[in-house]
Amino acid sequence: MNVYTLPDLPYDYDALEPFLSKQLLELHHKKHHAAYVAGANTALASLEKARSIGDVSRVSKCTRDLAFNLAGHVNHSVFWTNLCADGGGEPTTVLADGIANDFGSFEAFKRQFCALATSVQGSGWVMLAFDPVSSRLVTLQLHDHQDCMTAGVVPLLMLDMWEHAYYLDYHNAKADYVAAFWDVINWDDVARRFDKALAPAS
Ligand SMILES: [Fe+2]
Repeated sequence: MNVYTLPDLPYDYDALEPFLSKQLLELHHKKHHAAYVAGANTALASLEKARSIGDVSRVSKCTRDLAFNLAGHVNHSVFWTNLCADGGGEPTTVLADGIANDFGSFEAFKRQFCALATSVQGSGWVMLAFDPVSSRLVTLQLHDHQDCMTAGVVPLLMLDMWEHAYYLDYHNAKADYVAAFWDVINWDDVARRFDKALAPAS
């Protein structure tokens, strides 16, 4: 059976300071992200066992566990690569045009994204995504890892708004964490994801 594995970070644990301390990033990656990888594999194994013994009584719970943990794994994998030490600024090229077309301006997009991030109730994420149905960019606010997700959208830029993502460094100053995020965004990575989403299926 194929299993999920924890990807290495594309930078050292102290690379994103002062946005995120080495201690926070290491804990976030090695403990929290790793737990979602393990949880997804456990859910898959439980489903395989249920099939092998012909017992479907737990498949609903296992499927919910798989959705939660796999979304946690995917979200974090996108989030890590959205960040880099020398990031920040604004996107250029096609992504800049897309943001201007679909949000009015980069500043309007940023205000909308920040408002969604600081208003997450409980645990969640904010996402810039491409919707292939309408060929436009949208922002989503996810609860937990996957609730309020729209099927088919392609994640481009994600921000983790679970307390484990910022509390060690920022305590309850959620808005400071959101503001600092813009200094480490790897717009090249976001643009690559957008270009890939726009490319016709081969
Ligand atoms: Fe997280």
